[in-house]
Amino acid sequence: MISLISGGSRGLGLAIVERLLARGDRVATFSRSGSPALAALAAAHPDRLHAESLDGSDSAAVIGFVGRVVERFGGLDHCIANAAIAHEGVLATMRDDEIDSLLTVNVKASIVLVRECLRQMLARSPAPRSEPKHSPLPLGEGGRRPGEGAPPASITVISSIVASRGSPGLAVYAATKAALEGFARSLAREVGLRGIRVNAIAPGFLETDLSATLSADNRARLARRTALGRLGTTADVVGALEFLTSPRAAFITGQVLTIDGGN
Ligand SMILES: NC(=O)c1ccc[n+]([C@@H]2O[C@H](COP(=O)([O-])OP(=O)(O)OC[C@H]3O[C@@H](n4cnc5c(N)ncnc54)[C@H](OP(=O)(O)O)[C@@H]3O)[C@@H](O)[C@H]2O)c1
Repeated sequence: MISLISGGSRGLGLAIVERLLARGDRVATFSRSGSPALAALAAAHPDRLHAESLDGSDSAAVIGFVGRVVERFGGLDHCIANAAIAHEGVLATMRDDEIDSLLTVNVKASIVLVRECLRQMLARSPAPRSEPKHSPLPLGEGGRRPGEGAPPASITVISSIVASRGSPGLAVYAATKAALEGFARSLAREVGLRGIRVNAIAPGFLETDLSATLSADNRARLARRTALGRLGTTADVVGALEFLTSPRAAFITGQVLTIDGGN
């Protein structure tokens, strides 16, 4: 399988890159800067890992990247919109540029990435014989009944538990993640008949750079309110991603899978 994931240089993205390489996938990823861990993976898998440095908020760069990946690997099966940023701070003092960057990186860049991946997936997925009444997708020449012989294509967006639960100091970040969940639900209905599944994963707080600014008190409070009594790790989430991008999840779409230790 060919999988593309944004933000694979560290944290959850890096863990997903590692897991999908271990599964045997050909994997493509980008981030603004690389990392020694990603460079080591690229050295170990020169034929199966495609990594570039680019800013996901630069739509032209993302469009070029997706094109190069498809050219190099010959297609695209799974798209995982993972790259995101988080600015912590109460809304009353948050600056416009902080709000703009959260919306741009977390929402717009994720949507543009998914659109580009989707275009590639649609190009090789035949349209169903009869067009559904409200489908915005054009009719094609394919002869496949809905769901029949569907390619194993999927899109997964990485949300966060704060989208549904809320957290003080993360209102704008939460808004961006809630936007992605609505996006995933609607897109699932838009492309289901083309054999493409769309889901979201909503992790609880994870031990990564993104959450490194949490104070010790906050960390302890979050662990206390979690049924399993601890914060999550990237290892707690990658299994679910591997599942959602596998044939075992062939009938799962439009869902938000929460992985938060019982928060
Ligand atoms: N950590 C948590 O507690 C937690 C909880 C719930 C959900 N999540 C979600 O899980 C996902 C991964 O989070 P994480 O904790 O692994 O974050 P992280 O450790 O900060 O890693 C984020 C990744 O995204 C990349 N990235 C950020 N902005 C980018 C941009 N403009 N263009 C390209 N790449 C960019 C980063 O690389 P560069 O900085 O080099 O660009 C890095 O590879 C995110 O969607 C996050 O919202 C995290």
